[in-house]
Amino acid sequence: MATVSFDKATRIYPGSDKPAVDGLDIEIADGEFLVLVGPSGCGKSTSLRMLAGLEDVNGGAIRIGDRDVTHLPPKDRDIAMVFQNYALYPHMTVADNMGFALKIAGVPKAEIRQKVEEAAKILDLTQYLDRKPKALSGGQRQRVAMGRAIVREPQVFLMDEPLSNLDAKLRVSTRTQIASLQRRLGITTVYVTHDQVEAMTMGDRVAVLKDGLLQQVDTPRNMYDKPANLFVAGFIGSPAMNLVEVPITDGGVKFGNSVVPVSRDALQAATDKGDRTVTVGVRPEHFDVVELNGGASASLTKDSEEAPAGLAVSVNVVEETGADGYIYGTVEVGGETKDLVVRVSSRSVPEKGATVHVVPRPGETHVFSTSTGERLSDR
Ligand SMILES: Nc1ncnc2c1ncn2[C@@H]1O[C@H](COP(=O)(O)OP(=O)(O)OP(=O)(O)O)[C@@H](O)[C@H]1O
Ligand SMILES: [Mg+2]
Repeated sequence: MATVSFDKATRIYPGSDKPAVDGLDIEIADGEFLVLVGPSGCGKSTSLRMLAGLEDVNGGAIRIGDRDVTHLPPKDRDIAMVFQNYALYPHMTVADNMGFALKIAGVPKAEIRQKVEEAAKILDLTQYLDRKPKALSGGQRQRVAMGRAIVREPQVFLMDEPLSNLDAKLRVSTRTQIASLQRRLGITTVYVTHDQVEAMTMGDRVAVLKDGLLQQVDTPRNMYDKPANLFVAGFIGSPAMNLVEVPITDGGVKFGNSVVPVSRDALQAATDKGDRTVTVGVRPEHFDVVELNGGASASLTKDSEEAPAGLAVSVNVVEETGADGYIYGTVEVGGETKDLVVRVSSRSVPEKGATVHVVPRPGETHVFSTSTGERLSDR
């Protein structure tokens, strides 16, 4: 077992002037499950391949434990990698596939057999050891690929989208299996996915990349509660956080006909930059629906007598998931029409075409600088 550090690690592909991975800095603890997530082309696989030794490092360093492995060949790094396409040998049995790396390394046959059987037991593959890969389901093949990594007892597991060939249901059950297996084995793991739900459910910590640059590395909870910038705010969470650019006014921000109080420090920080607007983020579950006939709207001040308190949302689409419902609607903010997603109780889902009035729950708003995208509010 070992720690892993990316120390300003940079990869510039030949013929390109822009780094695919730019000064990546992450310290991964011994036994930690770290997930790299981000949109296609953001540099996830490149980062993983640099750690594996499959890609040159053009700047900075990579360490596994106390060893600087920056320029070591893959075979000397004591890592095992699981890829998206399991790359099993079709003519070999499951047992031979799992033991192949050990055979190449000259490990005695009896010892290989023992390690393969142990791994098969952990992965529930014992009854398939004599089959060929083509006679297995996708999920079983994926487990064989895991088994091949486990028998090597590496210091670090590297996984690049290992679940993407599985159907949705199998992906959910397999991700739980991988996460619990990793915790049981306690082997430091770096896992790549473009799926933020996978990242949030599997990782001890999640690192979000965009255009080769690390945006934030944090626990899933902190990532959700305190996204560091507009990109992370929009990327993590489904349905996504509502992000609306609004003018700064006395005591808050102007949201349609209402003034929503937000962190004073945040507004001061924006004003100091010379900004007249901020971008306010509200997650779909952080709106309260207000009753217009005398209902609660204490957090808002009306600045026009005719206008009702709260944001008037015209409901375009209603999605009921069983446990709750989502309203996909539009609001008028500053003369512009904006899309808004609001979670409502499954017992009071409005009709399509209706208008509902909502207010962001106090203390649950996020404030970002419109000009730089950085987070301004501390909660
Ligand atoms: N061998 C290569 N030569 C030149 N450019 C490359 C090479 N491999 C990747 N790139 C570029 O580097 C950037 C990062 O690619 P990378 O494969 O790391 O992205 P990724 O985050 O894994 O994306 P995906 O989710 O699509 O797998 C992309 O712009 C890609 O086009
Ligand atoms: Mg990739």
